[in-house]
Amino acid sequence: MTQTDAHSSEAQLDAATVPSGSTSTTPKPRRIAVLTSGGDAPGMNAAIRAVVRAATFHGVEVVGVRRGFQGLHQGDMRLLGPRDVANIIQRGGTVLLTARSHTWRTPEGRTLGAGHLKAWGVDGLIVIGGDGSFHGAHYLQQEHGIPVIGVPGTIDNDLYGTDHTIGYFTAVETALDAVDKLRDTAASHERIFVVEVMGRHAGHIALDVAVAGGAEEVFLPEEEHPAEHIAQVVRDSAAKGKASSILIVAEGYPGGGEAVARAVEAQTGLDTRLTILGHIQRGGSPVSSDRVLASRLGEAAVLALIEGKSDIMVGRGNGGMTFTPLHETWEKSKDVSRDLYRCAKTLSV
Ligand code: F6P
Repeated sequence: MTQTDAHSSEAQLDAATVPSGSTSTTPKPRRIAVLTSGGDAPGMNAAIRAVVRAATFHGVEVVGVRRGFQGLHQGDMRLLGPRDVANIIQRGGTVLLTARSHTWRTPEGRTLGAGHLKAWGVDGLIVIGGDGSFHGAHYLQQEHGIPVIGVPGTIDNDLYGTDHTIGYFTAVETALDAVDKLRDTAASHERIFVVEVMGRHAGHIALDVAVAGGAEEVFLPEEEHPAEHIAQVVRDSAAKGKASSILIVAEGYPGGGEAVARAVEAQTGLDTRLTILGHIQRGGSPVSSDRVLASRLGEAAVLALIEGKSDIMVGRGNGGMTFTPLHETWEKSKDVSRDLYRCAKTLSV
């Protein structure tokens, strides 16, 4: 079996075991484009590298678009070869730069961008980003018939259709490292530490960090906590003989870490500190799980375009590739693991 056969048979095997996106019989693309959009995520560079290298392997040229849809609207593009993506697999951020584009939200902006793609002879676009970016890709396909494939790149892990998103594993490690350090000082001063982590409207990062960091409590947007419960958590901890506590709060929890810290202090009078980890969670060298995921998904996106798929996101689920219609990635929601939430509660006894 040649390398090419191996690649296509793996893709066919995967496609046969999971729901497939729309597939057409259009000829193999000769040139495709790739961009990163929305908040950056560690592993985006590994995905860009995978797209360029996989496309080259299959005889397809790649155009890199700078600054996401903003750059597409402005025609800020250049050809990328395999050597252009050397030495980036280990780097955080995105070498293509990223932006949250306002012009792309207008049909006129999208028409300009589509014109640039057509002028460059681009037959398909790979968008690495989150659900906002996938909206932009979906409209481009709907309005201008340009095949698009989404690659899930966001630290939030909030996209339906994939077990994990690129950047999530690294963000959890970064937040966990901070929590471990905060625990040292919390224990020494016998203080309550409230730590707010990112995740937008989802609590995936918060839950994993809470379990891995041995937190006393976790506050998720997906779970309701009556006001009196917040202080009760701390009193219970004290009654159990704990001199210090770590409370993890997802930024999407109503009022965020600020509300929890204020409630704890007001209701218990205990010495409480708030740490908002913020954008530090988006930086840093990607951990191996993010690099591997990005490499797999970048390659899968190229294969999907070659196979004539469009308007879908490539992802991973049940040990194989998944292909989810783009609109489902934002219309359906991915819940946090209720089982893990129960586990977090059990282990904070
Ligand atoms: O979506 C990634 C994310 O980091 C969220 O966790 C956070 O809510 C948001 O982006 C922050 O966006 P910005 O970088 O525009 O402040």
